[in-house]
Amino acid sequence: MPKLQAVVKLGGSVITDKRGDRPRIRRKALARLAEELASAPRGRVVGVVHGAGSFGHGPVLRSGIQKGVRTPAQRLAWAEIQVLQNELNVVVCRALIAAGLPAVPHQASASAVMDARRLAHLDDTALRELGARHMIPVLYGVPAADRAQGCSILSGDVLAPALARILGADLLVLGTDVDGVFTADPRLDPDAKPLCRITPQTWPQVADSLGPATSKDVTGGMRGKVSALLIHAQNGLHARIIDITRPGHLAQALRGANVGTLIAPE
Ligand SMILES: Nc1ncnc2c1ncn2[C@@H]1O[C@H](COP(=O)(O)OP(=O)(O)OP(=O)(O)O)[C@@H](O)[C@H]1O
Ligand SMILES: [Mg+2]
Repeated sequence: MPKLQAVVKLGGSVITDKRGDRPRIRRKALARLAEELASAPRGRVVGVVHGAGSFGHGPVLRSGIQKGVRTPAQRLAWAEIQVLQNELNVVVCRALIAAGLPAVPHQASASAVMDARRLAHLDDTALRELGARHMIPVLYGVPAADRAQGCSILSGDVLAPALARILGADLLVLGTDVDGVFTADPRLDPDAKPLCRITPQTWPQVADSLGPATSKDVTGGMRGKVSALLIHAQNGLHARIIDITRPGHLAQALRGANVGTLIAPE
């Protein structure tokens, strides 16, 4: 019987308004999600990751730093974008603390190194020690040093399964604004059908239907999410992509309910 310890990603599409051009937090949604996390049995939620939403994707696209950094103006944009993520992270941590969760900010780019846009190194020493003390580290998508191109974006979708592995969680819940993975983008195609389960074996048949996100997303939208999860599925991780704009849905997933799309080893 699995112990059911979970890492949860709060999608930037839900905790911020991603359609607008300016960084804007959805405080009501964030407070509700914090309550749902806190309603899980004590000890179930061991780590949290959040996306950047309107704090990240727009500013990154405008500066182009996801493709590398060469000019002084781009270095300034990198610094500015990092600080913006830290500001969002403080608001998220405060919401979690207000709900009674011992949430601590954790800036992955302080110890992570990318190589050609892939995560090459993430120091896990402090994360393991925090986990052993029942603290809940809260990581977030950030610009990070990249050996090949100066800088690239370390996505929350990549950090979430990595954190689940480091903390020994057996469930990862990726909360976003659609109820899982569909045969096509459900915002564009009314005939899109939900997929209950994706495995490394079934992935090649569905991969082509998964386009990038409708709204601005520099880290690959739904396709980026599933690709990152499948790497870890091969090591036994079970992950669910669910709609957390629906009240109560996150709490259900944390109780082990069969909601959204399951990405599983087989
Ligand atoms: N096949 C698909 N099934 C489901 N959603 C899809 C599909 N293809 C594209 N999408 C889009 O992916 C979007 C969700 O990904 P997106 O990256 O925007 O959200 P997020 O990860 O919650 O935000 P952030 O990256 O800021 O954390 C949906 O709003 C949907 O429009
Ligand atoms: Mg995204």
